[in-house]
Amino acid sequence: MSLKFEPLTPDFGAEIFGVNLIGNSSDSLIEEILDLWNEVGGLIVIRDQILTSEDHINFSRNFGPLFGDLNNPPLQDTVSRYIHPHFPQIYRVSNQTDNKGEPIGRKGAGTYWHSDVSFRECPAQASILHGKVVPPVGGDTIFANQTKAYSSLSKGMKSIIDSLSAWHDFEIAARTQYAKPILVEDDIGVKNRALHPIVRTHAVTGKKSLYVNPGFTSHIEGFNNEESELLLEFLYEHCIRPEFLHRHRWKKNDLLIWDNRTTMHYAVMDYQDDQPRYMERCTVIGERPA
Ligand code: SIN
Repeated sequence: MSLKFEPLTPDFGAEIFGVNLIGNSSDSLIEEILDLWNEVGGLIVIRDQILTSEDHINFSRNFGPLFGDLNNPPLQDTVSRYIHPHFPQIYRVSNQTDNKGEPIGRKGAGTYWHSDVSFRECPAQASILHGKVVPPVGGDTIFANQTKAYSSLSKGMKSIIDSLSAWHDFEIAARTQYAKPILVEDDIGVKNRALHPIVRTHAVTGKKSLYVNPGFTSHIEGFNNEESELLLEFLYEHCIRPEFLHRHRWKKNDLLIWDNRTTMHYAVMDYQDDQPRYMERCTVIGERPA
């Protein structure tokens, strides 16, 4: 491998140095990035990438089809107002408004632990976030390694959860995170609700990861509410133990690639509106979790 990189933590994530992703990157570079991404558990940081939205989309397509691509489903309608007007594949996250006072992106997107789009039958695999404008301090994103969270459970707990499935439902986030006038009611229901194994096996590495998240998981199939809440509460507390975390402090032009099959993330909203933050995200459609 010719890539220069350093680990972000002893066993999770890597920062790659000395690459420039503008235009079309070579097949071998892409292959090396993909291999490293899988090897380090699904979190890559590449700094100083001055990418247009088109460059970002072209690079992201190396990971798979994108939500919003022609002939592919878009993200949920509730966030359509935050989609880039010229690039349906780009979801904008921002605390800024345009000259008409309209938000130019979703403010406070993902300020809770979640795995992107887990409420769809085929949820997101990679999310690729480009920091175009970032506050001088604050607005970090925290990632939790769910492969390590699973492997560090006892044999007994693994044997209980290995055969269980849980429902993921956009309504959970919709009712708590979105103001009533913004929520598109049609998003509530089967098209944004799915049953997934609590432990999923990665399609490439074969490793197992925990796959429940407080943002979108509603309940465990076959359990009553009390039982479901008890087990989910335990898992939620366990899966964000400090040893599983990496906190990314953004610099302008950082590009982050995370694997939603093996990680959860949390966007920290500790900055004010006079500190602009503008990010563009491409979201790759993944396989049905198994
Ligand atoms: C997201 O959940 O995709 C947003 C992450 C961030 O803005 O840091």
